[in-house]
Amino acid sequence: MTEYSNILVERRGRVGLVTLNRPEALNALNQATMEEVVAAVRAMDTDPGVGAVVITGSSKAFAAGADIKEMAFQGYMDMYAADWFRGWEDFTRLRIPTIAAVSGFALGGGCELAMMCDLIIAGDNAKFGQPEINLGVLPGMGGSQRLTRAVGKAKAMDLILTGRFIGAEEAERSGLVSRVVPAEDVVDEALKAGEIIASKSKPVAMAAKEAVNAAFETGLAQGVLFERRIFHSLFATEDQKEGMAAFTEKRQPEFKHR
Ligand code: CAA
Repeated sequence: MTEYSNILVERRGRVGLVTLNRPEALNALNQATMEEVVAAVRAMDTDPGVGAVVITGSSKAFAAGADIKEMAFQGYMDMYAADWFRGWEDFTRLRIPTIAAVSGFALGGGCELAMMCDLIIAGDNAKFGQPEINLGVLPGMGGSQRLTRAVGKAKAMDLILTGRFIGAEEAERSGLVSRVVPAEDVVDEALKAGEIIASKSKPVAMAAKEAVNAAFETGLAQGVLFERRIFHSLFATEDQKEGMAAFTEKRQPEFKHR
């Protein structure tokens, strides 16, 4: 079992649970935490016993951003040479479905990490924001791009230019989060959603994730064609045969490749 200093890693049934664990810094994402999160989720990605991943923080903070104290005295060449934040790109290349369970603050890099997940389930105490402008910078982990795609230009400009925070209800109304639940239930609800996803065929769930992500990365015609070709290719799988046979025979499917 790998030892981590900044995160807790568990398995709950078929779901991997990663808990950010730097309470003294409201789970600020320093470079070491990035490396640990990415290592933990990459191991889950290829683990046949894991069908979904939940990332969470504490009840006070999912994560209050990138670690400001670690960045404060860096120069341009330090940031450029280290390609600061590049490690998060590996998170976005995961094939396994990922769920952010957000309680409390999800600010700056915390909001950006949540947005790198496939869906966000928010506790009713969640606060989302991109306050980097108050630090004399702008979002650096994809926020200007992912937030704009998630909530549209007007709301993204509002959050990024003013630095104001939005609550769970406004985040749901804006399309940033998929569900709002009582704060104390957020991890359980995310684990339940993860267990449902993990009960499906894993390769089919990965293909579905790829198809939805294509909506962000390609034009409409290209994305629709990509989806249709994946749809065709799934007819080469045993899980498609089983899924459709189970429907016809009025029983639950027993997917082989979970
Ligand atoms: N980096 C480093 N340390 C942080 C931190 C961060 N992002 N956020 C909080 N902390 C630390 C505080 O410095 C404090 O430590 P000390 O006790 O040693 O002083 C501890 O966590 C508790 O924080 P507060 O005392 O500030 O707690 P609060 O309840 O009064 O306020 C808060 C909570 C509003 C979230 C406030 O901590 C805050 O504004 N944090 C910074 C939010 C922010 O600006 N995030 C963006 C970071 S830059 C970024 O993320 C770039 C990017 O795009 C990737």
